[in-house]
Parts: sequence; structure tokens; C-alpha cells
Amino acid sequence: MSKALVAYFSASGVTAKLASKLAETTGADLHEIEPKQPYSAADLNWNNPNSRSSVEMKDKAFRPEIANKVEHMDQYDIIYVGFPIWWYVAPTIINTFLEQYDLKGKTVIPFATSGGSGMGNTNAELAGSCPGAVLKEGKRFSISVSEPELKAWTEQATV
Ligand SMILES: Cc1cc2nc3c(=O)[nH]c(=O)nc-3n(C[C@H](O)[C@H](O)[C@H](O)COP(=O)(O)O)c2cc1C
Repeated sequence: MSKALVAYFSASGVTAKLASKLAETTGADLHEIEPKQPYSAADLNWNNPNSRSSVEMKDKAFRPEIANKVEHMDQYDIIYVGFPIWWYVAPTIINTFLEQYDLKGKTVIPFATSGGSGMGNTNAELAGSCPGAVLKEGKRFSISVSEPELKAWTEQATV
């Protein structure tokens, strides 16, 4: 039996709800990726080109710091990584997260919430942060996704 982890970053709680549902559906462990400096509402203002998220997301090499770590990452075979779509990709804190571990041989499956955009260019931006891992095609979900729908997705995503 392969062991799965659902790790997620959520700035305003939407992805957190989806991540809990996914962990419940799959029986996976749940881990919240906590930024060292939490994002305030002002930080998240995408209409302001000088807000923290705007400035960070303009620099693809920037790696926001993370406050916590997954214990014993080596026990997991499958890692679902969840996040809100920011500017059509994963927030760069997801790159920070992936780069903290040796994920060689593991399966990494992105999932996201958004205001409507799909996964966009997400995998192209994440691939370099998990060398040697099998990075699967991810999926953006509506927060109202049902548990059977999620379960069906995980079954085909982990093949
Ligand atoms: C900085 C920033 C950029 C965003 N960019 C996009 C985007 O490109 N496309 C989109 O559909 N939604 C975008 N959103 C909306 C979020 O993806 C959406 O509200 C998400 O569900 C929030 O999840 P969370 O509560 O887990 O942080 C953006 C939100 C923020 C704060």
C-alpha cells in the first residue's frame, strides 16, 4: 500500500477546505504549509502592483520562507500539493516547499482552487523544484466538488 500526504498552502482558507476534503476522501495525512510571515489581506491585493504577493510573484526565483516541516517525508509515496492559483501558477512558496525535501521517486500531484483559472503554467514552474519526482498533471477544483468526484480523480491521478 502506498502512503499519501496532502500538503497545502492556503492564504484565505479556501484551499484548506478542499485539502481537508481530499485527505478525508483518500485517508491521507494532512499538512499545512505555514509561511514564516503570514499573508495579510493587504499582502494579497493583486490590484496593487506593490503588494507583497505582486512583488513576490514577479520574481520567479523568490522563495518565501516556511515556518514548519513535514516529519519523515520519506514515509510517503504520493504527495498531493494544494494551493491557490496566483497569477496563473502556484505561489512560489510551493517551490520553497518542494525544494525542502528529496522527492526522488515520489509522485507529486498538484491540486488548486482559484477564482476561475485552470492550472495554467503551474507544472512548468514546479518541475525544477522536484527533480526525480513524477510530477502529474494537476487539477483545479471548485470548492463545491463532491467527495465521489475527488475520489474518482485520485484514482486516475495515481495510476
Ligand atoms: C495574489 C493573488 C493572485 C491570484 N491570481 C489568480 C489567477 O490568476 N486566477 C484566478 O482564477 N484566481 C486568482 N486568485 C484567486 C485565488 O486563486 C482564489 O481566491 C483561491 O481560491 C484562494 O485560495 P486560498 O483561500 O486557499 O488562499 C488570486 C488570488 C491572489 C491573492
